Amino acid sequence: MSSIRVAILGFGTVGEGVYKTIYSHQDKLSKALGKRVEVAAILIKNKNKYKNRGIDNRVLVTDDYEEILKLEKLDVVVEAIVGQEPALTYLQKAIQKGCHIITANKEMFAVHGSKLQDLAMKRGVGVGFEATVAGGVPVIQTLQQLLNINRIKKIEGILNGTSNYILSEMRTNHLSFSEALQAAQEKGYAEADPTNDVEGYDAFYKLMILSEIAFGGKPEWANVPREGITTITEEQIKGAEKLGLRFKLIASIQIVAGEIVGSVRPTLVTESHPLFNIEGVENSVSIEGDIVGRLTLQGPGAGMLPTASAVIEDLIHVVRANHHSLTQFSLKEGVGLVEDADEEGNQNWLMIHPGEAQLTSVPVSVVTETDHHIYLKADEPTITTLRKRNHQASFFEVLGEFQLKKSV
Ligand SMILES: NC(=O)c1ccc[n+]([C@@H]2O[C@H](COP(=O)([O-])OP(=O)(O)OC[C@H]3O[C@@H](n4cnc5c(N)ncnc54)[C@H](OP(=O)(O)O)[C@@H]3O)[C@@H](O)[C@H]2O)c1
Repeated sequence: MSSIRVAILGFGTVGEGVYKTIYSHQDKLSKALGKRVEVAAILIKNKNKYKNRGIDNRVLVTDDYEEILKLEKLDVVVEAIVGQEPALTYLQKAIQKGCHIITANKEMFAVHGSKLQDLAMKRGVGVGFEATVAGGVPVIQTLQQLLNINRIKKIEGILNGTSNYILSEMRTNHLSFSEALQAAQEKGYAEADPTNDVEGYDAFYKLMILSEIAFGGKPEWANVPREGITTITEEQIKGAEKLGLRFKLIASIQIVAGEIVGSVRPTLVTESHPLFNIEGVENSVSIEGDIVGRLTLQGPGAGMLPTASAVIEDLIHVVRANHHSLTQFSLKEGVGLVEDADEEGNQNWLMIHPGEAQLTSVPVSVVTETDHHIYLKADEPTITTLRKRNHQASFFEVLGEFQLKKSV
């Protein structure tokens, strides 16, 4: 039986998981592809670090990518390293060599995904990137499938397990942000430098990848509000709970009046919303299509085997020549344009501790008011104005059906 020869770039959590899964699931892979899958090479930074890591001695283990490019037969390059470079250059070279590429690297792909996709299309090879968003949750395949006929109205997701774990711990165990972060670090859910996760960058990169698939483009990055969870206090979490609300770091993207509009920020979610019960390190993505309605996927957003599962699914797709296409619908053709339910782009917001609220001469519609809260409808620019005018108050978007009771 001939074989599919794979190189794995990086032998950390993801790279090692992919290596192990190729061998633990060889029978299934061979059946699916009609060929054995063989790891031909692994690229690492420091050879000594990988001596006792169980790598078969027939595999080329190297710190020199050129050696991998010189391999006579190589079919697929799986990239599982960190950051934009040298990952981008490595993948460009792999495409030029005629290899299919698969990446787990969300930061690199959010910035350079369409460039790689164009290059791959010209060279007639496939690009797999399922692992870049929500780890083991097959959100990209699901979107690709839905887009055959549906128009996507909106995507909302909990795309960062570390932040979700911290918010869950703060609520259930009454911890401060720093105590919950420490717990996440002790469990290996947060890195020593957690900035990417807790400041919303990780979720932002994933959101931009989803935007490109769903809407054929991305919003201007500078126009996407991105806030992390570092300023959320125990007191705010308790206050929200009294109102039946939970804080979640929500990444959302939709079309409002013909524009792609996105945000990543701590948001208050009600029990009626599918993301309310997503706890701990789980990820979840809720997709609204014009025909299917709303569907929600949930599962492990990271980890060695869940991420390897996504990479191996991609391996089967690219080898079977069912190449992923980043942009099925183009905004320019108007195909992806579906107006949100509220055509003015208004969202529901809770203004907490309003004091002497300054709400005049801006388009705000107050739904309910109590001593400590104002529940209102307004668009994003209006909220920006209100934030400047009402320094003492906090504003959080509310998702799901909500009634502010006068007695609270
Ligand atoms: N961990 C997850 O659950 C998960 C889930 C989805 C996506 N991802 C993404 O997958 C990628 C890999 O994540 P990971 O968790 O596996 O990271 P990791 O555990 O830190 O491993 C990264 C690996 O890449 C190697 N590496 C880094 N720069 C390299 C270079 N220039 N040349 C060769 N090797 C290099 C590292 O070698 P050294 O150890 O010698 O530095 C290490 O083996 C990241 O982009 C991440 O965002 C991760």
